[in-house]
Amino acid sequence: MKERIMIFDSTLRDGEQTPGAKLNAKEKLEIARQLARLNVDVIEAGFPISSSGDFKAVQRISREIKGPIITALARTVKEDIDCAWDSIKESERPRIHVFLAASDLHMEKKLRKSPEQCLQEAVEAVRYAKSLTKDVEYSLEDATRAREDYILKVVEAVIDAGATVVNIPDTVGYAVPQEFGRLIHLIKTKVPNINKAIISVHCHNDLGLAVINSLVAVENGARQVECNVNGIGERAGNAALEEIVLAMKIRQDHFPYETGIIANEIYRTSRTVSKLSGIPIPVNKAVIGINAFAHSSGIHQDGVLKDKSTYEIINADLIGGQAAQMVLTARSGRHAVRHQIESMNYQLTEEDFKKFYVRFKELSDKKKEVYNEDLEAMLIDISFAEPTYELEYLQTVSGTRTIPAAVVRLKKGEEIFEEVSSGAGPIDAAYKAIDRITKIDTRLENYNLRAVTHGMDALGEVSIKINHEDKNIIGRGVSTDIVEASVKAYLDGINKLINMTIYSNNNNNHAAEKV
Ligand code: KIV
Ligand code: ZN
Repeated sequence: MKERIMIFDSTLRDGEQTPGAKLNAKEKLEIARQLARLNVDVIEAGFPISSSGDFKAVQRISREIKGPIITALARTVKEDIDCAWDSIKESERPRIHVFLAASDLHMEKKLRKSPEQCLQEAVEAVRYAKSLTKDVEYSLEDATRAREDYILKVVEAVIDAGATVVNIPDTVGYAVPQEFGRLIHLIKTKVPNINKAIISVHCHNDLGLAVINSLVAVENGARQVECNVNGIGERAGNAALEEIVLAMKIRQDHFPYETGIIANEIYRTSRTVSKLSGIPIPVNKAVIGINAFAHSSGIHQDGVLKDKSTYEIINADLIGGQAAQMVLTARSGRHAVRHQIESMNYQLTEEDFKKFYVRFKELSDKKKEVYNEDLEAMLIDISFAEPTYELEYLQTVSGTRTIPAAVVRLKKGEEIFEEVSSGAGPIDAAYKAIDRITKIDTRLENYNLRAVTHGMDALGEVSIKINHEDKNIIGRGVSTDIVEASVKAYLDGINKLINMTIYSNNNNNHAAEKV
């Protein structure tokens, strides 16, 4: 029997710490639903003390998501632990995740506490968490720069205090594989009570070694791996879930372990996380980048046509990357469109489908052939729209000897607003007209445009990041017209900002810095 490796997904906590990847509660819930379909063992849903919005999001996930363990992060203080517990206690399988620094560097410079004080704090925190629930994980932050004797002492003490999982993070992505493997082996062989807990690892990717460090840790006794979809996360990100799972699957000869992951949900999970977080997937990203299955050189194409295995070690079907591609057109009826959406594993309510079908018709009138990628881009738009402002009308002028200008008409409930503005280009002009209507002061931090499919009539997908006071918000929009897509993306961001502001004005209690 193969040994089971638990997959602990931290996309909604460490992944959300990716600069610009802030998610609202609905987006977090949607990703959590997809993670449950992917069958991860643990979902780290957030760091509830960091904001009341995150608290609510974790609470909703705990109430609604069945299957995986739901965990929430807490520092070793009672207020954090109580808050984490309150957010997850309605879950079928709650786990409290407590952490504290373990390296001298962090203890001295950041916490200004002695190792003995930290050890005592860790033990008390685990004991307290254990009084609330039976499943408690303890993380030794910055373990790979900590003294080995101290690590062994802390691991033993927290297990005695009731920790069921001890996590060894490579917080700054500093470890190299042989050294990290040796550390895990040391813990496995030298901590007397280690059999009472699972060893977990949590690797960051600052040197591009997160995945290999995680795999080497598994070879040395780790039985839980913490990782994020698409490898997103703080700074250079965390170990990529899809790479770890596929490495074990494809190289069973080398890694004779199994995970519970349903591999053919990987593609969809990856796309969902990218679209909702606004973090694009690099084209050459291992396992899920669009070039991962593309062959460009003549010799490779010839080989693949004769036998795929000549140049392909992963079949796109294995990760669900090729839901039968049926090309839809303006003549495709409701039934065909619904069937295609369902074959791509999306379920829409009747009401959402009606909205979706209207958009499909608009698109298929402009674009001859509608591909799965087009449907996916529109699906993300449909499911999350709770707009305050809707675009009623847009007209822009631009050209070589013209001052770019835009007329924008927006609908807010029953009210209609119209403004005209000039700008550096048609998009700038339209954004300025929108600003005049909404009177919200924003700064455009980031603008990305990509073609969803190939060809002159391809859908353009615009993803932007706007900043308002201390908030960064991602907005997305799709259209065959890139100016319209840009305006939709801006309105999406503004609408999210309005929702967020209303929300945070109504809920103003917990506040702490992100880890
Ligand atoms: O990187 C890290 O050390 C963490 C811990 C909180 C687990 O994210
Ligand atoms: Zn981390």
